[in-house]
Amino acid sequence: MKKALALVLAAVLICASVFCFASCGEKKEGAVEDNASKTEVKGTLHMATNAEFEPYEYIKNKKIVGIDPEIAQAICEKLGYELVIDDMKFDSIITAVKSGKADFGMAGMTVTDERKKSVDFTDSYTNTTQVIIVKEDSDIATKKDIKDKHLGVQLGTTGDGIASENSSSIERYNNGADAVLALTQGKIDAVIIDREPARKFVEQNEGLKILDDTFDGEEYAICVKKDSVLTDELNDAIQELTEDGTIAKIINKYIK
Ligand code: ARG
Repeated sequence: MKKALALVLAAVLICASVFCFASCGEKKEGAVEDNASKTEVKGTLHMATNAEFEPYEYIKNKKIVGIDPEIAQAICEKLGYELVIDDMKFDSIITAVKSGKADFGMAGMTVTDERKKSVDFTDSYTNTTQVIIVKEDSDIATKKDIKDKHLGVQLGTTGDGIASENSSSIERYNNGADAVLALTQGKIDAVIIDREPARKFVEQNEGLKILDDTFDGEEYAICVKKDSVLTDELNDAIQELTEDGTIAKIINKYIK
């Protein structure tokens, strides 16, 4: 009886290892082939964003479009991932990435030392500066003039940080559009926000202007959970897509 059991067990083991050997070999070959043709789908990557930031990410015809979704799509195609975009409040993105709810965050997000305490950043894919939007007839002419003024920002942004250094009278909105609306209604004196979204807001609203006096340059990058291998993968893709001109082409499509 014992002998029979042992025989059966041995047979099962042999079968299993032969099967595994065969299928593992198969998989490997397939992967190499797929990799060459870039069709292998390794899995899904969830991108956390805040689609209220034209031209980087915004909603058009019920779809999330813009520079970041297009670059993310190009990166995922290169690496063999399927991209899923999760829209949320800007100040939830880092938490989502930290907790693993999202694989990466991409939202016109500036690299800062403060954020680096919670997440890693890839290499930068583009840059910006914070600018000041005021009404055309405003007495605010340079960045010195925002001192102690009633300022509007999007909550948790670098604009929020700059405003906080200059005034204690700040309105923090969930998105830039609400801040700009408050400015047009005379509820606040100025909005501090990234250059390209500022240009869009000024285009879309009468009677506003952007001051020539801007703040220091900032780098946009993708944030990833700390110590994740994904950061290196994303960096490889960013490098290739920078070198072959894909990223510049996408940016130029949205920024004239
Ligand atoms: N660049 C600024 C920051 O990182 C603002 C980004 C806001 N992005 C957005 N999708 N709402 O703080």
